[in-house]
Amino acid sequence: MPPPIYLDHHATTPLDPRVLEGMLPYLREHFGNAASRNHVFGRTAAAAVEEARERVAAAIGARPADIVFTSGATEANALALRGTVLQDSGAHLVTTAIEHRSVLDNARRLEREGCSLTVLPVDGFGRVDPDELRRALRPQTRLVSVMAANNEIGTLQPIADLGAVVRDSGALFHVDATQALGRVALDVEAAGVDLLSLSAHKAYGPKGVGVLYRRRRPRRVRLVPLQEGGGQEDGLRPGTLNVPGIVGMGVACELAAAAMASEGPRLLALRQRLFSALAHEIEGLRLNGHPDERLAGSLHLAIDGVDADALLLGLDDIALSAGAACSSGVVKPSHVLQAIGAATPGQAATLRLCVGRFNTEGEIDAAAQRIVTRVKALRAAR
Ligand SMILES: Cc1ncc(COP(=O)(O)O)c(C=O)c1O
Repeated sequence: MPPPIYLDHHATTPLDPRVLEGMLPYLREHFGNAASRNHVFGRTAAAAVEEARERVAAAIGARPADIVFTSGATEANALALRGTVLQDSGAHLVTTAIEHRSVLDNARRLEREGCSLTVLPVDGFGRVDPDELRRALRPQTRLVSVMAANNEIGTLQPIADLGAVVRDSGALFHVDATQALGRVALDVEAAGVDLLSLSAHKAYGPKGVGVLYRRRRPRRVRLVPLQEGGGQEDGLRPGTLNVPGIVGMGVACELAAAAMASEGPRLLALRQRLFSALAHEIEGLRLNGHPDERLAGSLHLAIDGVDADALLLGLDDIALSAGAACSSGVVKPSHVLQAIGAATPGQAATLRLCVGRFNTEGEIDAAAQRIVTRVKALRAAR
């Protein structure tokens, strides 16, 4: 059996060994509760949390006090949407058709609870038009939520342009930057972002920890917490802090910021190598998403005349996905493919591949070879 190859970095990323090294002391000897400030165990944990807060803030151009640790981006998205919109019964919320379910489902729930909702369409590449956003805004618009990078097709949004539109309107701007962390430069000030969600496990950090950036200055974003409890994280996310996870998130952010300049071109070269190898051998191969405005490592492919299930069944030694991992198991074309007009169930197989930090050229060549062989075998058997 050839070794399995991991090309599913949109779903999750492996823990960077340097992140694990940073976390280990907080799983072993420094086990204190960060809220126990009266003794050295607690103070050691609290100091580590504050150091991590500084590292995360530095990675997105924020102030440490603006960082709220959560259990991941799902919770950060829920806090951003529900925490702002629930305060205002007549609120209008704007989001896009290709958001992650944790944004879209919260938006729909808020709509059922009485707020009004606009879901913006995207173009065939998955991009939001700033003029379309401007037309959707109303005096009652409380929040606009747009993802920085899509988890399925890899398309990047013009966040700074959209931020300028939102800022002119006086609404709040939330960005789900889960897939962008470590892959795209993020600067909350330059992009006019008021709220921003992150997740450690998409950037070589541990699972179960994330962040909501919440602007405090010059205008303070008021948030209603999702739960009540011990008052941690300024009362916005009560619950004992996941100190090892938070430490891991801090190290992951620091590594991401330091590696971005060199990692981006490397991932782009690997992705292009993979695409060229596949396109050279497979007729009827199409790229979904934007050709240029996309995450460096990300490929979303449609292969005409091939059954998706049969293709995936024969490729179980390559970690890839037929759609977004978070919604797989649901047997309908993904909402993202529908939104870009690329849902062709039964006529084409779709593959989502994402190259990451530890992939080698050898793995890319081997993966391409296995996919080509499988597609040719399926076509020959028709
Ligand atoms: C764009 C996006 N937002 C939010 C999430 C949810 O992140 P988490 O796994 O940290 O809850 C994901 C995970 O797939 C994602 O890709």
